[in-house]
Amino acid sequence: MLLPLLLLALLLAGSGQAAARIPPTGRNDVSVVTTDIVPAAGTFHYVATDTAAAPRFVFASDAVRHVVRRKDVSTGIWQTIAGEDGKAGSRDGPIGTSLLNRPTAMCTTPLSDLVVVDSAGACVRLVTQDGMVSTLAGVCGSTGQRDGTGQSALFSDSIQSITCLANCSVLVADQANGRLRILNLHDPDCYAAAKKALARRYTARSLWAVGLVVALVAALAAAVVIHSRQLTAAGFVVWRRSGEQGGATADSEYGPLVDAAEVPDTPPLPRAEE
Ligand SMILES: *[C@@H]1O[C@H](CO)[C@@H](O)[C@H](O)[C@H]1NC(C)=O
Repeated sequence: MLLPLLLLALLLAGSGQAAARIPPTGRNDVSVVTTDIVPAAGTFHYVATDTAAAPRFVFASDAVRHVVRRKDVSTGIWQTIAGEDGKAGSRDGPIGTSLLNRPTAMCTTPLSDLVVVDSAGACVRLVTQDGMVSTLAGVCGSTGQRDGTGQSALFSDSIQSITCLANCSVLVADQANGRLRILNLHDPDCYAAAKKALARRYTARSLWAVGLVVALVAALAAAVVIHSRQLTAAGFVVWRRSGEQGGATADSEYGPLVDAAEVPDTPPLPRAEE
């Protein structure tokens, strides 16, 4: 009797240890699929998407060809939206006229604008959804370490990574300067988009809360109704207020018993009106 129990305990302890070595179920359950192959002599350096729940666009920077390309997810078609293939530069402007200088790290603002590091240019560029390129911070072509607004700030030409925050600021890892920099976008449209995104989150949460309260109240009401039915059925005297007319004169008017026929021993009260 004792031996099988001991064996079972050992078995359980052993399986517990084995389970502890395996990562939690699902965390590392992944499949890998190639969706795109880089165009000739190019690179896929960094990728980003717009901030929609179901992104419409995938962006990829190509530091070798000096461009940022955009893929329309629904059609699968790639288009160069910033820079000119194979030509380095720092010119701002719309699609087809702008130039980039080894674009690497990217992220998307709450407005779905693209923030792009011009790694060889030592500056940070902004690409709007329709491909308008402007210089956000730093002086393209000048390296340095200086804080300030827009073009008065300077960066090293080895910015390694950036991340766009939900509050319209951008964190920048300025590697050669050994500094973490932060860009605060002063764009009312971005703030509005950020607020909207936050509001969506809170609306979803408060809808859950409202739903929960409604469900609780409904459950309570159902419980009260069922409870009062049971009381009536059990022969308890249940009075129901009837003929409420409002006003000061309508004092203590009580109607007949509920289901009076089922309670023959108790005569109904005379109605007070008339
Ligand atoms: C956004 O959040 C970061 C990190 O908390 C903060 O440093 C930055 O000042 C914030 N930006 C704005 C515009 O509030």
